[in-house]
Amino acid sequence: MSETPILRVENLSKSYGDLQVLKSVSFDVYKGETKAFIGPSGTGKSTLLRCINQLTVPDSGSVYLNGEEITHSGAKINEYRQKMGMVFQNFNLFDHLTAVRNVEIALLKVKKMDKAEARKKAMFELERVGLADRADYYPAQLSGGQAQRVSIARALAMDPDVMLFDEPTSALDPELKREVLEVMRKLAADGMTMLIVTHEMHFATSFATDILFMENGEIVERGRPADIPTSPSFERTRAFMGTYQE
Ligand SMILES: Nc1ncnc2c1ncn2[C@@H]1O[C@H](COP(=O)(O)OP(=O)(O)O)[C@@H](O)[C@H]1O
Ligand SMILES: [Mg+2]
Repeated sequence: MSETPILRVENLSKSYGDLQVLKSVSFDVYKGETKAFIGPSGTGKSTLLRCINQLTVPDSGSVYLNGEEITHSGAKINEYRQKMGMVFQNFNLFDHLTAVRNVEIALLKVKKMDKAEARKKAMFELERVGLADRADYYPAQLSGGQAQRVSIARALAMDPDVMLFDEPTSALDPELKREVLEVMRKLAADGMTMLIVTHEMHFATSFATDILFMENGEIVERGRPADIPTSPSFERTRAFMGTYQE
């Protein structure tokens, strides 16, 4: 019997009016894999992540988390969403809450942890992203890189099965990208299962298990990063990488 994928995406399609943004996208994600999605902007990468956690409802197709279908799951979707940590380009932190409060709030409100337990867990996750010493800072007092690491800690606090990153470093200055990328690299090394939409080619290819190249709503090329330089199935990826300067 083969292992059940943590996440199965099956024939996901989505249109906005006449524009078909996702065209029957399918892939499986196994525990510990890091899949990097690259490709030109406007090709449906964000829509794909949003359809996976049902922030956007796909027109057709299915998503399974640990073998259970989460599409059409109604109210239960909130439970499934907790298992999929989402990290956005613009952090989406609460400005009026300190770093540690941002991390613990869902533990208190959603997981109904008691205060001491939530604080302990929040501090553990801040430690994990190297920010224990910034626990009492407000988002405005943090650099963009630190704010993004807080939002990663917030997602990790829910003990997700899979982390979804949508261009997590795109809003950051080059010197701040690195600290966020290093946190992600460490997560991957620790066995976290991750889907990452990114333009950071060097980073994506340095530790992703798979590269998936999207164009016009389809995954047009996919394979192992090591095969990009030579494999004929990575022609478009190579061309894209050639035009994209980091
Ligand atoms: N809510 C929406 N309503 C209408 N069009 C949308 C919406 N969200 C995305 N789109 C369109 O879908 C296409 C894919 O968008 P997106 O998934 O954000 O691409 P990417 O993340 O690859 O840049 C774009 O043409 C975008 O304008
Ligand atoms: Mg996008």
